Amino acid sequence: MAQLRLTLLAVSLLILSPAMDGGGGGTVQAQIVPAVISFGDSTIDVGNNNYLPGAVFKANYVPYGVNFGSRHKPTGRFSDGKIVTDITAETLGFESYAPPYLSPQAKGKNLLLGANFASAASSYHDDTAAMYDAITLTQQLMYYREYQSKLAALVGRKNATAILSDALYIVSTGTGDFLQNYYHNASLSRRYNVNSYCDLLVGIFSGFANVSTVSASTHGCTSSELCMCKLVTMACAGCRSCIGWGRGGSA
Ligand SMILES: *[C@@H]1O[C@H](CO)[C@@H](O)[C@H](O)[C@H]1NC(C)=O
Ligand SMILES: *[C@@H]1O[C@H](CO)[C@@H](O)[C@H](O)[C@H]1NC(C)=O
Ligand SMILES: *[C@@H]1O[C@H](CO)[C@@H](O)[C@H](O)[C@H]1NC(C)=O
Repeated sequence: MAQLRLTLLAVSLLILSPAMDGGGGGTVQAQIVPAVISFGDSTIDVGNNNYLPGAVFKANYVPYGVNFGSRHKPTGRFSDGKIVTDITAETLGFESYAPPYLSPQAKGKNLLLGANFASAASSYHDDTAAMYDAITLTQQLMYYREYQSKLAALVGRKNATAILSDALYIVSTGTGDFLQNYYHNASLSRRYNVNSYCDLLVGIFSGFANVSTVSASTHGCTSSELCMCKLVTMACAGCRSCIGWGRGGSA
């Protein structure tokens, strides 16, 4: 089901994506959701790693960013241009993007756009992120909790609850657990075979989805939509446990 939903999202992006300059401006239209909240790895990091002194991976040099917006400069995105969260935000009617959560821009009215906690080289397994000094998924979730409080301070608890419950949640992560960890760490791959490592990752994901849903519902949210973009399906081809979790009552 997750894959079906992903496909539908990708297709609708292709159809709906308006021609828009990165960083805002352009068509005025109502936003379909109040905010976009993202967790994940380099696929949707919009520059958080630039604020981590020790991070191994940073997209802070050309050709990153050369086709992004009108400034043509690296932004921290691992792309020469827009990434999927940018295109998603535009498609949903936003005129600008949530800044990296660690940047000084992530305050005041900008918090109303949503928040981006993603960090290149992060993954489901916190050990993977730790190997590259990236923001672990656990820490991303802690930042999300902090964001909830900041939002409540900004617009009041009731409005914050409405924003959080109707926001679009995007999670894009998982391949690093195999490509940057499992296949690099002989001790890890001796300890787990591919299937049992998949089980470990699925367990982490279930906990993450559960915690974020519970965390949203303590704010009165009931309909948080977690849109799973990538998962571990690439690394886990042939591994049933990674494909069979469905919505499992939590995601
Ligand atoms: C909450 O939202 C309502 C409706 O948009 C607005 O009138 C009100 O000022 C907001 N409250 C705060 C504290 O910003
Ligand atoms: C490799 O994996 C083991 C767990 O099996 C872990 O204790 C160790 O810290 C990892 N090594 C590195 C370099 O991350
Ligand atoms: C989900 O969260 C609830 C409340 O914290 C907890 O009781 C339950 O065990 C969790 N389930 C999973 C699968 O983590």
